[in-house]
Amino acid sequence: MSLYPVYAQYPISIVAANGIELTDDKGQKYLDYYGGHAVISVGHGHPHYKAALHEQLDKIGFYSNVIQSPLQEQISERINAHLEAPYQLFMCSTGAEANENALKVASFKTGRKKILAFTHSFHGRTSAAVAATDNPKIWAPINIGHEVDFVDFEDFEKSERLLATSEYAAVIIETVQGVGGLDQPTEAFTSHLQALCKKYGTMLIADEVQSGFGRTGAFFSYQRFGLRPDIITMAKGMGNGFPVAGIMVHSDIEAVMGELGTTFGGNFLACRAALAVIDILENEKLIEHALHLEQVFRTAVEEAQLKATIKGAGLMIGLDYGAPTAELRKKLLFEDHLFVGSSSNPNVVRILPALNIDEQAIRHLVACLKKHST
Ligand SMILES: Cc1ncc(COP(=O)(O)O)c(C=O)c1O
Repeated sequence: MSLYPVYAQYPISIVAANGIELTDDKGQKYLDYYGGHAVISVGHGHPHYKAALHEQLDKIGFYSNVIQSPLQEQISERINAHLEAPYQLFMCSTGAEANENALKVASFKTGRKKILAFTHSFHGRTSAAVAATDNPKIWAPINIGHEVDFVDFEDFEKSERLLATSEYAAVIIETVQGVGGLDQPTEAFTSHLQALCKKYGTMLIADEVQSGFGRTGAFFSYQRFGLRPDIITMAKGMGNGFPVAGIMVHSDIEAVMGELGTTFGGNFLACRAALAVIDILENEKLIEHALHLEQVFRTAVEEAQLKATIKGAGLMIGLDYGAPTAELRKKLLFEDHLFVGSSSNPNVVRILPALNIDEQAIRHLVACLKKHST
């Protein structure tokens, strides 16, 4: 046995992919409504994405941040074009690393140590990020030293009581929870948090690792709530499978030379992948398309009279059956050959396809769900 077995895996080996179609080593085709955990944003093997990476590889694949990076500057400009205020980009390689760096910036700038996070949150598996993740099963003893408090969405009183101590460096929030099962706060609650952060000098971090890059029908999910975060974190859909991540730091926050760093972050290939994703999102109007397909999904679920509650937004959507869905997901995979997502809430099926999926594919999924809902 050569692997360190930490993943519960399906006995399936995928060898090729195109659009939302996956092919295994026996030639069996599958449809991908999971996107390798919300990562595949513009579809497998998109021609523009492949051409951009091939072309870059022919020139130069990697150099470190010891030299200037016009490509990183282009990414910053392209993302800023979607934002309401100017932000500065720092690039890294994974979602956990993005959150770890965001929490560090908040701590450096405020001189504080405490973090406020939410129940059912997931922010990654590195030191402070995992400590801000509401899952004690994945905290190692070494992670437990962090000072993190968890609050429920809509707990106005506790969030105010804690933040009023002025001891918190950051509030970190997923405005639609991914791993947690697609719960969203109300706008009244997020406005309350924004006001408390301003009043008590705490930084607001929007974790857009899963919900960013158009997935919820807005460039970033926090925009649907009218928030103004101090720091935005992003990964997954940003690279359509290429490991690329980053943080957007509000222009009011001043960097200190050397306070953050990484070897791989923002390398040539990573930048090309992110730029190609932004090109495709814009050229194919995929953010608007995600919103449209949310409506197609809602209508199809209503028409099929599925006994489940729709949760989430855009193409970060799903169904809460009020009872465990593991069997349903198995049937979808092994009988219908459809990949869908699970969540830490066992009753929720998560649907996280590429944003250029079509209406017919959404209707096919709902028909399969209907078939199994007797
Ligand atoms: C909201 C959110 N934040 C952070 C992470 C961690 O990202 P990564 O696995 O790239 O470290 C995830 C991963 O699922 C996530 O969903």
